[in-house]
Amino acid sequence: MPEDQPETLLPDDNGLARAAVLLGQGHVLALPTETVYGLAADARSDMACARVFRAKGRPRFNPLIVHLQDIAGAEALAEVCSTARDLARAFWPGPLTLVLPLKAGHGLSPLATAGLDTVAIRVPSHPVARAVLALFGGPVVAPSANPFGRVSPTTADHVRQGLGGAPAAILDAGPCAVGLESTILAPGLSGIRLLREGGLPSEVVEAMTGPLIPDTAPGTVQAPGQLAGHYAPAVPVVMDSDLSEHAAVRIGFTADQAADLHLSQSGNLAEAAARLFDVLHRAESLALARNEPAIHVAPVPKTGLGRAINDRLRRAAAMRH
Ligand code: TXA
Ligand code: MG
Repeated sequence: MPEDQPETLLPDDNGLARAAVLLGQGHVLALPTETVYGLAADARSDMACARVFRAKGRPRFNPLIVHLQDIAGAEALAEVCSTARDLARAFWPGPLTLVLPLKAGHGLSPLATAGLDTVAIRVPSHPVARAVLALFGGPVVAPSANPFGRVSPTTADHVRQGLGGAPAAILDAGPCAVGLESTILAPGLSGIRLLREGGLPSEVVEAMTGPLIPDTAPGTVQAPGQLAGHYAPAVPVVMDSDLSEHAAVRIGFTADQAADLHLSQSGNLAEAAARLFDVLHRAESLALARNEPAIHVAPVPKTGLGRAINDRLRRAAAMRH
């Protein structure tokens, strides 16, 4: 990893303009979205996409999400069926990614799509991400700005700690409001498959579409964010803990539980989601500093955003150390 620290950019006119220039020059930069910080690069450039994979240590068979300004942008790259259009109209801009069939002449780097005939597209709502997309004027890949397999970043500091000098710059706009990666859906002839639980609760989608198809078919891992052993701190995680283990960093769900850190004050799932990755980053530092062998997390309700919170905790707990 390079020794140099990335340039820090503020979300003002100068910072936004500089971010767009860096993207245009084929550099990678960390950029805030409403879900997590992304490692952004020009989706049409092989060199820029290769830099993203290198910075994250991410296997190249794992495709990236292409970020666009609007549905019209998606229609230029992909076949947007009527189901996809309904989903996009309801939930874009926002924490939803749609996996759609690529159109001929899409112009994306094959590295962005890992050579698949589909593309994952997201229209973010964060004003800073949107401003950079508008100034840059093209499609931008942005996987979460963390080393592959580790906890996703919700602050600029998380990015610095995880990626060191790998990005050319970090656009710092404070903590991300949602705190969980986007929900990934793949509309198809047989229904809508749920590839990743995320910041848009599946119940909210299902209220509009009817039941989603859980993506459980073995051997057909479509979204490697679905791999067991992902999103993991450097210390083993135990979930659904009663927090009675004292030789551990303990994470409570509500503030009245005796613990070192808490996901929320009074059991609000949106607050817990927004804080989850920061709390995991802090717990990891605490465990390393106190030389404690594990991180224990209290049960989190399994509804609404709690689905994605439990999904990330399950994958963190599945990591072999
Ligand atoms: O909220 C988010 O989605 C964040 C922010 C930065 O936008 N990005 C993010 O990207 O989480 P990443 O690369 O960490 O996760 C993208 C997921 C991966 O699990 C990848 O395998 C899946 O999307 N994916 C990308 N293209 C796909 C495709 N064509 N088919 C199925 N899954 C795909
Ligand atoms: Mg990720």
